[in-house]
Amino acid sequence: MRPFRRNSRPLRADSAEGPPFPGRVLPRELWTRTRAQLGDRGKRFAWDLAFGRQAPRVVDLGCGNGRWLISSALARPDVDHLGVELVPPAVKLGSLRAGQRGLRNCKLAWGDATEFILERCEPESLDEVHLYHPQPYYDARKRARRQLSPEVLRAIHRALKPGGLFVFQTDNPAYAEYARRVVPLLFEWRELPGPWPDAPEGRTLREIVARSKGLEILRAEARRLELPEIEAARRISQMPTPDFDANRPEFRAGLRPSARRRQR
Ligand SMILES: C[S@@+](CC[C@H](N)C(=O)[O-])C[C@H]1O[C@@H](n2cnc3c(N)ncnc32)[C@H](O)[C@@H]1O
Repeated sequence: MRPFRRNSRPLRADSAEGPPFPGRVLPRELWTRTRAQLGDRGKRFAWDLAFGRQAPRVVDLGCGNGRWLISSALARPDVDHLGVELVPPAVKLGSLRAGQRGLRNCKLAWGDATEFILERCEPESLDEVHLYHPQPYYDARKRARRQLSPEVLRAIHRALKPGGLFVFQTDNPAYAEYARRVVPLLFEWRELPGPWPDAPEGRTLREIVARSKGLEILRAEARRLELPEIEAARRISQMPTPDFDANRPEFRAGLRPSARRRQR
């Protein structure tokens, strides 16, 4: 796959740019409002109010510019999609793109996805939770911000309906190793051998960027295991915390490959 470039600048993972979004921009009079408010801290998210109906529920934690959320919402009109994202311009762009497509089953909310899953979800209320390319946080002082942790995994497990789906994806080798250690304790873990059949170029912007750089990507689907509360708690207590060094081996010595080459 050739790297995606615009104006010959390499595409950045945090960029609002990218290949064209799926779907078609409708005439302005058909645009919809696709921003959601999370409401006061600690309050349950009011799905019925936000979407005006009762339907299966899908959440994307840290949805970036909403690429996957929007394409899934277009493909599954009977399913309600909520993206929670910390960076306001990404929320703005994603909700504009969703609105331009006239979507009523897709909303984006500005906020902390960790707080959302820990505090704002009823038990057994979600059908799917997706976490694509969580920020690795290379700086050791920021590791506590990592989105996958025993506590969060427990919250995802609790918020999913029986048999519910957790999708996890990363191009960071240390994050992949961590996920392989902890997720199978609460979920039936299945790794995909290659790209997603529904999005061979990549479901999300970061996946497209990672593929253009030739990075290996872990794509996994995990089904909630039905466990007695006491057993789930025991398994959680055995999980390591996400205190790994996310730097790739070639960066660990503090030298980029190009700097090393210059030194030789
Ligand atoms: C590497 S980007 C991946 C974005 C998107 N999921 C993708 O695959 O293209 C990580 C995203 O997670 C967001 N993020 C990190 N921590 C978050 C949190 N606690 N709550 C919501 N979003 C978060 C960042 O703002 C960023 O948009």
